[in-house]
Amino acid sequence: MNKTNGGAARSDALVLFGVTGDLAYKKIFPALYAMTKRGAFNAPVVGVAAPKWSTDQLRQRAMDSIKKSGKIDDQGALDHLLSLLSYVCGDYNDRDTFTAIKNALGSARSPAHYLAIPPSLFATVIQGLGAAGLDDQARVIVEKPFGRDLASARELNRIAHSVFPEDSIFRIDHYLGKEAIMNILYFRFANSFLEPIWNRNCVASVQITLAEDFGVEGRGAFYETAGCLRDVIQNHLFQIVALLGMEPPAYQGFGAVHAEKAKVFQAMRPLQPDDVARGQYAGYRKEPGVAKDSDVETFCALRLFIDSWRWHGVPWYLRSGKFLAETAAEVLVELKPPPQRLFDDSAPAAGRANYLRFRLSPNSAIALAARVKRAGKEFIGDQRELYLVEEQLGEQAPYERLLGDAMTGDGALFTREDAIEAAWAVVDPVLNTPRRVCPYKRGSWGPKKADALIAADGRWHNPEPTEAKDGSAE
Ligand code: BG6
Repeated sequence: MNKTNGGAARSDALVLFGVTGDLAYKKIFPALYAMTKRGAFNAPVVGVAAPKWSTDQLRQRAMDSIKKSGKIDDQGALDHLLSLLSYVCGDYNDRDTFTAIKNALGSARSPAHYLAIPPSLFATVIQGLGAAGLDDQARVIVEKPFGRDLASARELNRIAHSVFPEDSIFRIDHYLGKEAIMNILYFRFANSFLEPIWNRNCVASVQITLAEDFGVEGRGAFYETAGCLRDVIQNHLFQIVALLGMEPPAYQGFGAVHAEKAKVFQAMRPLQPDDVARGQYAGYRKEPGVAKDSDVETFCALRLFIDSWRWHGVPWYLRSGKFLAETAAEVLVELKPPPQRLFDDSAPAAGRANYLRFRLSPNSAIALAARVKRAGKEFIGDQRELYLVEEQLGEQAPYERLLGDAMTGDGALFTREDAIEAAWAVVDPVLNTPRRVCPYKRGSWGPKKADALIAADGRWHNPEPTEAKDGSAE
């Protein structure tokens, strides 16, 4: 087994498995172009896939992808990136494919291998890399989903570790590369005012919604193997829970952040069927690649508990779905109401009193809500939100950030083996005994069953289409 991870040295080549696929087209080529423009990327790229393409065909594909993602505003950078590309066609089960990669790598000694391929091929490629000696001084970047349940994630980790040490494995969850999500960590631990209220004494519940107003968009065949719980909840939403729920890291360094995040997953109570509401949008079964009698969920809501001192008894409600009413992601941390009702309008029916709201996309905001008195004789008031942050996301695309980090060996924004397995252990009990999906209308907020799930603690907070600056969250 390779004992070196190339230390802090920059990878001197990128081997892109699945280069003709969707992910490379939509995310990786545009990221490489943006990095090349900034002078942050200048390494040979060996694209690998099954189709019998020429390098020129690959260059054309890369150019189309970059054009589609935005304006070409630096022809020199584009030409340079295209000149860095070469192509190896082959079967991942065939040793000759790996020999051809080795030849294409020429004098490069510490490549980063990016597995932008279906998860079912991860093990084959990792083993192929090991057998060909392509693991030496190398890094491997793996796309989600990492496994499809606890057993397969363990097996995948076992295979990956038989070839690469943990600190050479970069498991991508692109949510960790988003500015608004990195800001959760910063906001929590760069301030002191939150800590006294950030626990079971003051927090009534936490809600996270990741809503999309579009469907599976041609990814029906993939979606059939995943469903919403596996596609975004066990990874993207759980990562947000971990950042909101973790204890302060013991020292300055991402090893400490990884350790605290893993503890959150370890403290999560394994889900039971009653904690989950699954939905499927009308017409999903007619999507290409989808079974006519599919029971795969395109919406999932769940109630989660973190059995720790800090969070004992606080319900966490998570929800995500395709073809919902909006495209937006938000967190609502609802604080407990005042212990006494002194004013007529401070009853729960008047709305939520105090909360912190994190808008994660499409724009970024952190707002603190409180009730304030209206001018006049009566003691009645309004709910106001105080915006601490409010900005459009002019950020580096997550893939740009993450690809750059992986190639320099910076593992801060990647997920660690123990955290992945602990997260699977939470959802595992409901993967194999799901209740049947409930249909929901396109453009709605999902099935009624999701409302019933949260009813004991209130109602869902539906993110606004565009930010309302002066009113409440509802
Ligand atoms: C991906 C999922 O990981 O995340 C998609 O496979 C989902 O189904 C996407 O649409 C959401 O990411 P973002 O960055 O667009 O919010």
